[in-house]
Amino acid sequence: MHENLRTLSRMDRIQAPIIAVIGSLIRQVPGTISLGQGVVHYGPPPEAIDAVRAALDRPSTHEYQDGLGLPALVARIARKVSAENGIDVSRGYEVMVTAGANMAFMHAVLATTSPGDEVILPVPFYFNHEMAIEMAGCRVVRVPTDDAYQLRLDAIEAALTERTRVIVTISPNNPSGAVFTESSLRRLNALCRDRGIYHVSDEPYEYFTYGGARHVSPGSFADAAGHTLSIYSLSKAYGFAGWRVGYVVYPEHLAAAMIKSQDTILICPTIASQEAAIGALDVGRAYCEPHVRELESIRDVVVSKLSELGSLAVVPAADGAFYCLLKVNVDSDPLVLAERLIREYKVAVVPGTAFGIDGCYFRVAYGALQRETVAEGVGRLVEGLERCVRRM
Ligand SMILES: Cc1ncc(COP(=O)(O)O)c(C=O)c1O
Repeated sequence: MHENLRTLSRMDRIQAPIIAVIGSLIRQVPGTISLGQGVVHYGPPPEAIDAVRAALDRPSTHEYQDGLGLPALVARIARKVSAENGIDVSRGYEVMVTAGANMAFMHAVLATTSPGDEVILPVPFYFNHEMAIEMAGCRVVRVPTDDAYQLRLDAIEAALTERTRVIVTISPNNPSGAVFTESSLRRLNALCRDRGIYHVSDEPYEYFTYGGARHVSPGSFADAAGHTLSIYSLSKAYGFAGWRVGYVVYPEHLAAAMIKSQDTILICPTIASQEAAIGALDVGRAYCEPHVRELESIRDVVVSKLSELGSLAVVPAADGAFYCLLKVNVDSDPLVLAERLIREYKVAVVPGTAFGIDGCYFRVAYGALQRETVAEGVGRLVEGLERCVRRM
């Protein structure tokens, strides 16, 4: 190979996608129960698949279409965000359909920043957010949350500099499961407005809340339209991960920048997937509601089993998404421990380092499995941690 080809690229500084790393370990140990990837166990509503079948015979399904998304889907999304999120798109917002929430986030970063700008991520964060920001040549500024993984406005305010362009929130949160309080989101959104900073709110788990927790969309706050980008996904709610459909509601002054990014990366979202999305959104939230209630009871099993770890670990209440973030009270490299848990106890979790947290933390994902398998998996995790940590 020519030595010029060995020179570093921007990607060398960026963490490897952790799910692929854990996935390859899982494949080496057959029978491993994965509490690793953040996916649900159910597929799309039949109406979505019927809509695709009907679309296959139409020549337009196979052609390039509007870069923003099919007008029928964009209109459907406008109705949904108005009814469910309190976001009136006619008041200064645009809608764009993307190939999932990850792509919406990449567009948002490219549209709102220049290289060298700073983007604030409350820790723990979603690893692909950090990766996207660094790929765009920007700097991630990590800001701590409190013991319940709630936002710390004082820490965020202290982290602001003249290069701060964006603050990102994820609620319900991946990886902690925390649902941010309405008052903290209001204060953060107002801070962004007053300082001329964008608030990017990633909300793929909007329906996944438990107990008394309530999801709030910052895009609905008064005066939010000038600086707030709200990102949604069908991946979790509708079992749609492979269809790659998400959307973003963003300030209208970003339209030209957003379209440049979309046109270059995707041209237009896959037409068949958009037809499926219309079918799914017509069924609506009612489709995933029973699944969410089932997940709530699975969460109870997870939390009660993890409590068997006693003083060995701390698991703050997780009222949303389908994750718990476990802090193990041991001075050990979590990736090494995660590998041992797979090899010796056949259970996979994701080390917290991928989410920006130092110390021995693990994300436990319980969306992909039936109750019995989750119970077995968490049982293995508890046994594995007890034995591994005692031997250290
Ligand atoms: C916070 C967050 N944003 C975005 C995504 C990606 O969603 P999509 O499949 O729509 O790209 C995930 C998936 O786990 C996520 O947890």
